[in-house]
Amino acid sequence: IPVQPFDLVIFGATGDLARRKILPGLYRRMLAGQMPTEARIIGAARSKLTAKAFREMVEEALETFIGKERLDAGTVKTFLAALHYVAVDAGGEGGWKELGAILGQDPRPVRGFYLSVGPSLFGPIAARLHHSGIATETSRIVVEKPLGHDLGSAQALNAQLAESFDESQIYRIDHYLGKETVQNLMAVRFANALFEPLWNARFIDHVQITVAENIGVGGRGGYYDKSGAMRDMVQNHLMQLLCLTAMEPPAQFEADRVRDEKLKVIRSLEPVTPEDTVRGQYRAGNGEPSYAEHAENPDSTTESYVALKVNIANWRWQGTPFYLRTGKRLRARLSEIAVVFKEPPHSIFPKLPAHQTNALIIRLQPDEGITLRMTIKEPGPGGMRLADVPLDMSFAEALGPSAESMPDAYERLIMDVMRGDQTLFMRGDEVEAAWEWTDRILAEWSESRDKPKPYDAGGSGPENALELMHRDGRRWREIE
Ligand code: BG6
Repeated sequence: IPVQPFDLVIFGATGDLARRKILPGLYRRMLAGQMPTEARIIGAARSKLTAKAFREMVEEALETFIGKERLDAGTVKTFLAALHYVAVDAGGEGGWKELGAILGQDPRPVRGFYLSVGPSLFGPIAARLHHSGIATETSRIVVEKPLGHDLGSAQALNAQLAESFDESQIYRIDHYLGKETVQNLMAVRFANALFEPLWNARFIDHVQITVAENIGVGGRGGYYDKSGAMRDMVQNHLMQLLCLTAMEPPAQFEADRVRDEKLKVIRSLEPVTPEDTVRGQYRAGNGEPSYAEHAENPDSTTESYVALKVNIANWRWQGTPFYLRTGKRLRARLSEIAVVFKEPPHSIFPKLPAHQTNALIIRLQPDEGITLRMTIKEPGPGGMRLADVPLDMSFAEALGPSAESMPDAYERLIMDVMRGDQTLFMRGDEVEAAWEWTDRILAEWSESRDKPKPYDAGGSGPENALELMHRDGRRWREIE
């Protein structure tokens, strides 16, 4: 779907996210012919840079994060020509007039403001944009987590934004929603007649959602130690994956219809009891320091791993738990949703081991794809011996070269902002409902004296996370 010419102002344009993701993403969209050549990208940050110096910085960022040899010289030139820069003091007076002047000079039909800055600046920048008249009634504002630290702060943030922008103008990014397979989950569920009749507690034994990372917190210890895996990953990314897996079919593939259904899921979540939660913290290993060393806080009780058993109290899911887990410094980088089906009601064959029931696995990364695990007869004359085999659909194989040029999450989401499509963005009430649920678990943790359980770097998490499944006669899929 074509995108109209736009002006996109990036606040925090010299920061890490802008250089690593936003600007390379926009370049790639231009290369793909999706970003109109009349579009303008206006960098805004505190540093007093000239437009020339900003362009040089962006060129360097493209070389670093895309690779010099992979850049197309002609597109780079056009892209750099679309860049402008204004030094803006987000909390003060400086630069706003200049910004207004650039935008007013030759306005494009669509105007977006990407706030790639700390959340304490969201409110002040939104207010300035509104009061100065720089933001028009059709302008869009983009913000990204942390969208609050708990329910109260999330409400305050939403209220601040609401003073200057209507909900239909606010785009809250959860980059997991921009991942190709996440959207494919909706296609699989709602564009095929095959799965939806089975998509309920009658046929599904449980769902496992895993977001495992092999990296540690590295240089982000300061931020992470105040956040932890629950706030950093579960409240947003895992919650979104859970919602898309569990939600009722929306009446239309339209922003508010989809978001209404996700919200209903969050509101149906039962409070999680302490026995159904596990927290972990990684030890030193494989030549890397422990979590506490990374966080520079030897007494840190922040979790770098969480596992939860979550029940959804509604007709569709009563009795089918969702197990969620996420952690840093685990064996591998793996994100997947595994929908594990029940055993056939009556087996005419010798009983299958529990893990050999059908499962639909939606792999987000790496090697995005969908696998259906099925039981078939082992070929050969050895009698009726059954085997568990995968029916595999790898995007890279199925789509060939076009899979390689698949836009990454940020590219897709920024283009959606410019198109005015909010389907893959979180609505304010969703964010608040997710915090309300998360807050209860965090409060129980902070009341309890338990510390996170240590786990080995390069392993699959703390022992009692395994126990969370074993006691229900189930087991996690391998992280590999
Ligand atoms: C971010 C978290 O939102 O998501 C990081 O703050 C995490 O801690 C990252 O590493 C994971 O994203 P991805 O796309 O690499 O799975």
